[in-house]
Amino acid sequence: MQDLGTTVLGVPLPFPVMNAPGTFASIGELRQLGAAGAGALCLRTATVHPFVHREFHGLHNPGHDKLLTVTRELVELGGPPVVASVAGGTADEYALLARLFAEAGASLVELNLADPWVARTLAPYEDVEVLAEVCTRVLEACPVPVLVRLPTDVAPRWGRIAAALRVAGVRGVVVGNDFAGMEKLLLETRGEVEMVAVGQVHSGYDVTRSLAKGARALQVDADLKLEGPRMFRRLAREMRRAREGPR
Ligand SMILES: Cc1cc2nc3c(=O)[nH]c(=O)nc-3n(C[C@H](O)[C@H](O)[C@H](O)COP(=O)(O)O)c2cc1C
Repeated sequence: MQDLGTTVLGVPLPFPVMNAPGTFASIGELRQLGAAGAGALCLRTATVHPFVHREFHGLHNPGHDKLLTVTRELVELGGPPVVASVAGGTADEYALLARLFAEAGASLVELNLADPWVARTLAPYEDVEVLAEVCTRVLEACPVPVLVRLPTDVAPRWGRIAAALRVAGVRGVVVGNDFAGMEKLLLETRGEVEMVAVGQVHSGYDVTRSLAKGARALQVDADLKLEGPRMFRRLAREMRRAREGPR
């Protein structure tokens, strides 16, 4: 059997596809994904306090303390690595949450700097010094590798963003699974930054193509919600077929 494993910032994943932060949030749901072959388990984005907002649905979560409990229980179960996702209104909040999730056993911490609420409050792309400040503070505070999730609408400014990430010492990003954008950021970061691609994963062929273009791993949400956890087995079958090529 071909080994389909990968590493993200030195963290070994048994399979290169994981759920994207979002739909799957409870211990029961995440445990099922782990048993079905997910390469890692991503938690919904946590904020310091419970977040419910009429306009900003992407950040709905019960607050970081509840998600820390989910993290500890998943780690104790011994499944694939746990990836925490955090967001806040200040660099201090990002740094605090990143440290707490790492201490709870998360193997990677994703800074959700892609959410529209973050764009509206912290505004890390209006002034890239804010982006650099958040990343610097988090990297100082967090003992595990950090991924920065970037929004898709900043692609035209990737030169400046890549420079800010470099200044802060960021080594990994999560970006939309879009080849033109991914390739541009890879070029801007001179291949020094590892990339996880999110979204638009429908088949094992999509996964194989994105890995060939330079992604280290992928995150899927909508199709996983539709098909359920058995999607991971299908993706693995299709990836093996894609690697074997035509008979
Ligand atoms: C209901 C819902 C909740 C989401 N919550 C989060 C979240 O907590 N953190 C995050 O980074 N992205 C969140 N997202 C975005 C997803 O992670 C993902 O980027 C998006 O669905 C694209 O992937 P797809 O094409 O596989 O659906 C959410 C999306 C949906 C639909």
